[in-house]
Amino acid sequence: MESKKSAIRQQADEIKPYQCKNLIVVLENPMDPKNIGSVIRNVNALGAEKIYIVDSGKTLPDEWEKIRERKTIYKVSVSASKWTFVKRFDSTEQCLEHLKKKRFTSIVTSPHVKGKDNFILHETNYTHPKLAVWFGNESRGISDLAVESSDFCVSIPMFGMIESLNLATTTGIVLYEITKQRRAYQAKYKRANRGPKA
Ligand SMILES: C[S@@+](CC[C@H](N)C(=O)[O-])C[C@H]1O[C@@H](n2cnc3c(N)ncnc32)[C@H](O)[C@@H]1O
Repeated sequence: MESKKSAIRQQADEIKPYQCKNLIVVLENPMDPKNIGSVIRNVNALGAEKIYIVDSGKTLPDEWEKIRERKTIYKVSVSASKWTFVKRFDSTEQCLEHLKKKRFTSIVTSPHVKGKDNFILHETNYTHPKLAVWFGNESRGISDLAVESSDFCVSIPMFGMIESLNLATTTGIVLYEITKQRRAYQAKYKRANRGPKA
């Protein structure tokens, strides 16, 4: 038992420098618990810090411990829900207010051109000190309120006959690009702070 604990501690210490602090994934009214589980898995595997879930239909319990114990969520996340911070909000307004208080910049994702500024995923910069990345509902997409409250909208280019990618798939692709940029930035910043070798 003791050695299992220390193996977990060791792994946690090893991944710590690669974690992206102040990177939050926001799911706006997801319908499918399997998608929630997959997103938790992606968030954990790619090293984002937290997930916020806007749950206007009150389908989830308030407490994080209870959310992560939901059978489907736990199973589909392959137990990543044990290691991932999840917080729920009653509405988009409440979540935006919370992020504003904590000085987060919000950006939204959509297969469509939305809001004042739009970028192709790999053609912009994501090294904002505090960043919240919003993903929309499986059928309605992202809300106008989230779009209006965000700095810009990001799209993954698509070349098929269908309108959009699956929600969880999108989080994997988007987080891959964002965490890659943030890790490179963190490493550069750390090197610069270390100063020249004596
Ligand atoms: C299944 S899609 C929703 C489709 C919806 N009909 C719409 O108009 O957005 C669920 C979410 O996945 C994300 N998404 C799906 N495809 C995307 C793409 N090509 N680029 C960026 N985000 C995408 C968005 O956050 C979207 O709100």
